[in-house]
Amino acid sequence: MLVLGIETSCDETGVALYDTDRGLLSHALHTQIAMHGEYGGVVPELASRDHIRRVIPLVREVLDKSGRSLPDIDGIAYTKGPGLAGALLVGASVGASLGFALKKPVIGVHHLEGHLLSPLLAKPAPDFPFVALLVSGGHTQLIRVEAMGNYVLLGDTLDDAAGEAFDKTAKLLGLGYPGGAALSRLAEKGDTARFRLPRPMLGSADLDFSFSGLKTAALTLVRSQEDDGQTRADIARAFQDAIVEVLVKKSLDAVRQCGLSRLVVAGGVSANSELRKRLAAGARGVEVYYPDLEFCTDNGAMIAFAGAMRYLMGAAPENGFSVRARWDLFGA
Ligand code: KG4
Ligand code: ZN
Repeated sequence: MLVLGIETSCDETGVALYDTDRGLLSHALHTQIAMHGEYGGVVPELASRDHIRRVIPLVREVLDKSGRSLPDIDGIAYTKGPGLAGALLVGASVGASLGFALKKPVIGVHHLEGHLLSPLLAKPAPDFPFVALLVSGGHTQLIRVEAMGNYVLLGDTLDDAAGEAFDKTAKLLGLGYPGGAALSRLAEKGDTARFRLPRPMLGSADLDFSFSGLKTAALTLVRSQEDDGQTRADIARAFQDAIVEVLVKKSLDAVRQCGLSRLVVAGGVSANSELRKRLAAGARGVEVYYPDLEFCTDNGAMIAFAGAMRYLMGAAPENGFSVRARWDLFGA
């Protein structure tokens, strides 16, 4: 079965073709980061308009790259939510129109399920069950994944998401938007011993997180120091050390509490090299899986894959087109 996946939930237009027999055939992405960078964050109206401009050329590109044409497609998957309503509507309307024209089923995919399953596109892929740490710009969740579609929320952030904390701290340090990757690069030049920031909820008995206090502590530190390049790098390092320590400790606690041996890390922050390094060092007896680096942040491949899995499970195709800007993966 050949599935076309379309992702337009935020600031990346992603399109991909996934074949259930042969795997991922092709994918293409346009990121709007440079466009939103001027404004210091995502401007929803600009995002929607740019998705409209990009999505059809990207569909053509993935078809051309794989030597396929529209009639070869057996199904279409698009990101139904959560995300920016106007941006989601672009993928939904293109997906629904293609489905109508080609007389093929259209599946609405939950964006977080896309992230959650993205490590299954990598090799080796994890078997079920596993614990997933979902760390993106909007989410920080620990999830017990029994099987496709069977998710139990173990822990969540009480305030800011990990990616959001990275982005806000990056902004304080004068790095662009979204600043997670730039902060991580700056932290490599930082001295780990110079500053120490709090590790929020590190010792709490639950599996929840809280990062807004860490961001405020970083702000206080920035204001109390001279503004020079080395100090910024040292603060970036202190911030990253703190957030990574909490993510690693709680993730490994979750795996052990569940009596499992596999941890999957997904979402934009799973690209963070310090997080990967610390997990490798700390995860005795636990196998850790990640998406390939290009599929950590938003992309069409994870949507094509999740849509194909949903369809094979017998999910009902969409009737008309709809989006859900707010959509709880666990209540769904
Ligand atoms: O999954 P994603 O593309 O979008 C959402 O669904 O939210 O994640 C984007 C987030 C941003 O906050 C970005 O700063 C963060 O992932 N990010 C990183 C790194 N690469 C991306 N954070 C830390 N280190 C990185 N290397
Ligand atoms: Zn995402």
